[in-house]
Amino acid sequence: MVDKKTRRIALGADHAGYQVKDRIKELLQKKGFEVLDFGTHSEESVDYPDYARLVAQSVANAESDRGILVCGTGLGMAIAANKTQGIRAATCNDTYTARMAAEHTDANVLCVGARVVDADHAAAIVEEWLKGKFGGGRHQRRIDKITELERPPALSRAK
Ligand code: RB5
Repeated sequence: MVDKKTRRIALGADHAGYQVKDRIKELLQKKGFEVLDFGTHSEESVDYPDYARLVAQSVANAESDRGILVCGTGLGMAIAANKTQGIRAATCNDTYTARMAAEHTDANVLCVGARVVDADHAAAIVEEWLKGKFGGGRHQRRIDKITELERPPALSRAK
Protein backbone atom coordinates (compact mmCIF):
# COMPACT_ATOMS: atom_id res chain seq x y z
CA MET A 1 0.00 0.00 0.00
CA VAL A 2 1.38 3.38 -1.02
CA ASP A 3 1.88 6.02 1.65
CA LYS A 4 -1.38 8.00 1.72
CA LYS A 5 0.41 11.27 2.35
CA THR A 6 1.89 11.15 -1.14
CA ARG A 7 -0.49 12.72 -3.63
CA ARG A 8 1.63 14.88 -5.89
CA ILE A 9 4.97 13.79 -7.32
CA ALA A 10 7.42 16.05 -9.15
CA LEU A 11 9.31 14.54 -12.07
CA GLY A 12 12.45 15.67 -13.84
CA ALA A 13 14.98 14.22 -16.24
CA ASP A 14 17.80 15.14 -18.56
CA HIS A 15 18.14 14.01 -22.17
CA ALA A 16 19.43 10.59 -21.04
CA GLY A 17 16.45 10.02 -18.78
CA TYR A 18 13.43 11.64 -20.33
CA GLN A 19 12.00 8.47 -21.92
CA VAL A 20 12.18 6.56 -18.67
CA LYS A 21 10.75 9.63 -16.91
CA ASP A 22 7.78 9.58 -19.31
CA ARG A 23 7.23 5.90 -18.56
CA ILE A 24 7.29 6.61 -14.83
CA LYS A 25 4.83 9.45 -15.39
CA GLU A 26 2.43 7.05 -17.11
CA LEU A 27 2.71 4.59 -14.24
CA LEU A 28 2.10 7.27 -11.61
CA GLN A 29 -0.90 8.70 -13.42
CA LYS A 30 -2.40 5.22 -13.75
CA LYS A 31 -1.99 4.83 -10.00
CA GLY A 32 -3.87 8.09 -9.45
CA PHE A 33 -1.02 10.38 -8.45
CA GLU A 34 -0.92 13.96 -9.59
CA VAL A 35 2.31 14.54 -11.52
CA LEU A 36 4.24 17.77 -11.99
CA ASP A 37 6.50 17.17 -14.97
CA PHE A 38 9.38 19.65 -15.04
CA GLY A 39 10.88 18.17 -18.24
CA THR A 40 12.99 17.67 -20.19
CA HIS A 41 10.93 16.39 -23.12
CA SER A 42 13.46 15.48 -25.80
CA GLU A 43 16.91 14.09 -26.53
CA GLU A 44 18.37 17.55 -26.90
CA SER A 45 21.30 17.77 -24.53
CA VAL A 46 20.54 19.62 -21.29
CA ASP A 47 22.22 19.97 -17.89
CA TYR A 48 20.80 17.71 -15.19
CA PRO A 49 21.32 20.19 -12.28
CA ASP A 50 18.67 22.47 -13.82
CA TYR A 51 16.05 19.73 -13.50
CA ALA A 52 17.31 18.50 -10.13
CA ARG A 53 16.88 22.05 -8.82
CA LEU A 54 13.28 22.35 -10.06
CA VAL A 55 12.21 19.05 -8.56
CA ALA A 56 14.14 19.51 -5.30
CA GLN A 57 12.66 22.96 -4.78
CA SER A 58 9.17 21.71 -5.54
CA VAL A 59 9.54 19.08 -2.80
CA ALA A 60 11.32 21.39 -0.35
CA ASN A 61 8.57 24.01 -0.77
CA ALA A 62 5.89 21.35 -0.25
CA GLU A 63 4.45 22.01 -3.70
CA SER A 64 5.07 18.29 -4.25
CA ASP A 65 5.12 15.49 -1.69
CA ARG A 66 7.99 13.63 -3.33
CA GLY A 67 10.20 13.82 -6.40
CA ILE A 68 11.68 11.49 -8.97
CA LEU A 69 14.70 12.37 -11.12
CA VAL A 70 16.12 10.39 -14.02
CA CYS A 71 19.49 10.91 -15.67
CA GLY A 72 21.99 8.45 -17.17
CA THR A 73 23.15 6.98 -13.89
CA GLY A 74 21.01 8.66 -11.22
CA LEU A 75 24.20 10.04 -9.69
CA GLY A 76 24.41 13.61 -10.88
CA MET A 77 20.73 14.18 -10.13
CA ALA A 78 21.14 12.97 -6.54
CA ILE A 79 24.27 15.01 -5.94
CA ALA A 80 22.53 18.13 -7.24
CA ALA A 81 19.19 17.54 -5.49
CA ASN A 82 20.89 16.94 -2.15
CA LYS A 83 22.19 20.53 -2.20
CA THR A 84 18.66 21.74 -1.44
CA GLN A 85 17.83 21.95 2.24
CA GLY A 86 15.38 19.29 3.37
CA ILE A 87 16.06 16.99 0.45
CA ARG A 88 17.13 13.40 0.92
CA ALA A 89 17.73 12.15 -2.59
CA ALA A 90 18.76 8.53 -3.10
CA THR A 91 20.09 6.88 -6.24
CA CYS A 92 18.37 3.52 -6.56
CA ASN A 93 19.03 1.27 -9.50
CA ASP A 94 17.61 -1.84 -7.83
CA THR A 95 14.40 -2.56 -5.95
CA TYR A 96 15.99 -3.50 -2.61
CA THR A 97 17.80 -0.17 -2.34
CA ALA A 98 14.59 1.62 -3.32
CA ARG A 99 12.68 -0.09 -0.52
CA MET A 100 15.42 0.78 1.97
CA ALA A 101 15.49 4.37 0.71
CA ALA A 102 11.90 4.65 1.89
CA GLU A 103 12.05 2.50 5.04
CA HIS A 104 15.40 3.55 6.50
CA THR A 105 16.39 6.89 5.00
CA ASP A 106 12.94 8.34 4.25
CA ALA A 107 14.25 9.55 0.89
CA ASN A 108 11.89 12.21 -0.45
CA VAL A 109 13.52 12.17 -3.89
CA LEU A 110 14.28 9.01 -5.85
CA CYS A 111 16.96 9.11 -8.57
CA VAL A 112 17.19 6.47 -11.27
CA GLY A 113 19.74 5.82 -14.01
CA ALA A 114 18.21 5.26 -17.42
CA ARG A 115 21.52 3.94 -18.75
CA VAL A 116 21.66 1.42 -15.92
CA VAL A 117 18.10 0.07 -15.78
CA ASP A 118 15.45 -0.26 -18.47
CA ALA A 119 12.00 1.32 -18.25
CA ASP A 120 10.35 -1.79 -16.76
CA HIS A 121 12.98 -2.06 -14.07
CA ALA A 122 12.73 1.67 -13.36
CA ALA A 123 8.95 1.31 -12.93
CA ALA A 124 9.48 -1.57 -10.48
CA ILE A 125 11.99 0.55 -8.53
CA VAL A 126 9.49 3.41 -8.28
CA GLU A 127 6.74 1.03 -7.08
CA GLU A 128 9.01 -0.41 -4.41
CA TRP A 129 9.99 3.05 -3.16
CA LEU A 130 6.34 4.10 -3.00
CA LYS A 131 5.39 0.93 -1.12
CA GLY A 132 8.10 1.35 1.52
CA LYS A 133 6.96 2.77 4.82
CA PHE A 134 9.39 4.81 6.89
CA GLY A 135 10.38 2.90 10.02
CA GLY A 136 10.87 5.85 12.41
CA GLY A 137 12.61 5.13 15.75
CA ARG A 138 16.36 4.69 15.29
CA HIS A 139 16.00 5.69 11.65
CA GLN A 140 14.42 8.99 12.66
CA ARG A 141 17.27 9.61 15.09
CA ARG A 142 19.77 9.13 12.25
CA ILE A 143 17.80 11.38 9.93
CA ASP A 144 17.75 14.06 12.61
CA LYS A 145 21.55 13.83 12.62
CA ILE A 146 21.60 14.24 8.84
CA THR A 147 19.37 17.30 9.17
CA GLU A 148 21.80 18.72 11.72
CA LEU A 149 24.50 18.57 9.04
CA GLU A 150 22.56 21.13 7.04
CA ARG A 151 23.39 23.78 9.63
CA PRO A 152 26.48 25.85 8.84
CA PRO A 153 29.36 25.32 11.28
CA ALA A 154 29.47 27.89 14.06
CA LEU A 155 31.74 30.82 13.22
CA SER A 156 34.95 30.78 15.21
CA ARG A 157 35.05 33.59 17.73
CA ALA A 158 37.11 36.61 16.73
CA LYS A 159 40.05 37.28 19.03
C1 RB5 B 1 24.71 12.91 -19.25
O1 RB5 B 1 25.52 12.47 -20.30
C2 RB5 B 1 25.06 12.15 -17.98
O2 RB5 B 1 26.27 12.61 -17.47
C3 RB5 B 1 23.94 12.32 -16.96
O3 RB5 B 1 22.77 11.84 -17.51
C4 RB5 B 1 24.11 11.59 -15.63
O4 RB5 B 1 24.40 10.25 -15.81
C5 RB5 B 1 24.96 12.21 -14.62
O5 RB5 B 1 25.08 11.72 -13.50
